[in-house]
Amino acid sequence: MLANLDLKAEIIALKHARNAVILAHNYQTGDIQDVADYVGDSLGLAYHAKATEADVIVFCGVHFMAETAKIVNPGKIVVLPDADAGCSLEQSCPAPELEAFLKANAEKNYYIIAYINCSGGVKALCDVICTSGNAVKIVNLAPPDRPILFVPDENLGAWVMEQTGRKMDLWKGNCYVHVEFTRDSINRIKAEFPTALVVAHPECTAAVRLLADEVCSTEKMIAYCRNSPVRDIIVVTESGMLHRLRKECPDKNLIAGPTDRCACADCRYMKMNTLEKLRDCLDRLQPRVEMDESLRARAEQPLLRMLEQSK
Ligand code: 13P
Ligand code: SF4
Repeated sequence: MLANLDLKAEIIALKHARNAVILAHNYQTGDIQDVADYVGDSLGLAYHAKATEADVIVFCGVHFMAETAKIVNPGKIVVLPDADAGCSLEQSCPAPELEAFLKANAEKNYYIIAYINCSGGVKALCDVICTSGNAVKIVNLAPPDRPILFVPDENLGAWVMEQTGRKMDLWKGNCYVHVEFTRDSINRIKAEFPTALVVAHPECTAAVRLLADEVCSTEKMIAYCRNSPVRDIIVVTESGMLHRLRKECPDKNLIAGPTDRCACADCRYMKMNTLEKLRDCLDRLQPRVEMDESLRARAEQPLLRMLEQSK
């Protein structure tokens, strides 16, 4: 505990010395969330990264999130505590595979919407980016006369099709954390808390989404839990969310959605970041996100389009 206090003090001192801002995703460990300047979902983090006046952005999340911050801030130093913090969704759609698919299907003239959980290389091939927080809005704004290809999350894509009525071709990727929740695992916890409401992330499978009272991004879960009339709420997403929710909604009983194997679900990539690594990356300004300028510029266009369209 004392060691953590010292580490946090060191992190704050380094942050001031470097004129840095610490951005953290809702799935980071509680100690990292508590030392961050801003904690939020991918959409809120993208807006904050774009707006910051700090010289250094320390991104506590996974690599594609830090890369997104670099794409909109080419002149700033962007570091992340662990450069190996990847994402199964990003890995499911390598840019060369998407490029080959688009070449083979050139006659379709796809309007390509990429969920932000993808590499800069994939972003550069797309027309617009979306997050779970604005996917419905972005799809509703797509040109009505072109077929849509949605990459890389088939579950988020299927949910957006249900919400918008717009048919899309879906890339077959998924989040290895959210597909671990099953109808049985959610029914079991519902039986334990029969009056509880269920809020689930749209990366969950349709079988799980069907059991949810609300399906939304991690940020929207805060407002949903705060405003819900009942005390017991089952939260079907990555475990880090519980820390933020318990802080923001202290009067609620927030119950982790279980999988068939665990009482709650951790993203091994999100959890690669630690307070020690956060201190070290502020100290050394490494590991840094670096990008080829022409790729960065191509990836920036669809990101800026998203920020514009989801205002
Ligand atoms: P949010 O944008 O809803 O925070 O989701 C990001 C993510 O990685 C979900 O697994
Ligand atoms: Fe990627 Fe899933 Fe981890 Fe989110 S929870 S970062 S989608 S692997």
